[in-house]
Amino acid sequence: MSGGGRFYVKFLPVLALASTLSLLGGCGDNNAAPVAKAAPLDARLSEVYSRTCVGCHTTPDSGAPQSHAVAAWAPRLAKGDEILLAHMADGFAGMPPLGQCAECSADDLLALMHFMAGPAPEDTH
Ligand code: HEC
Repeated sequence: MSGGGRFYVKFLPVLALASTLSLLGGCGDNNAAPVAKAAPLDARLSEVYSRTCVGCHTTPDSGAPQSHAVAAWAPRLAKGDEILLAHMADGFAGMPPLGQCAECSADDLLALMHFMAGPAPEDTH
């Protein structure tokens, strides 16, 4: 019941701000809309996630930062959404272009990334 709470407080404002800034395309508006928490994926993205990202991002041998391993994602998030989006779109080292999600939009990729970079939604105990 304790334990997990701190991560939420520490990381979520950062995640919310980063994703909002990126969606705004860097127009400088810092009225970041508050996002409740690492939002669980909707049904469509959930399906995409299981079909694509999960293959590597829940397989440590792949070398990919693992889903909900918040500490592993911190240095990556520090690059900023713009760079991360470029890496997702074009591929980056072992990360294939679009994470093998041919139909994913930029917003989809960022949502998937922030889902993986945040604590597991059900990890509240
Ligand atoms: C074929 C395996 C594979 C799949 C599928 C995959 N990834 Fe990755 N991903 C990787 C690996 C490996 C890395 C680490 C690359 C490195 O830093 O060497 C990575 C890194 C990343 C990064 C961090 C990039 C950076 O600049 O640090 C993001 C963001 C990411 N993946 C998002 C996704 C998303 C979103 C999906 C699903 C749409 C996905 N990945 C699917 C293997 C994969």
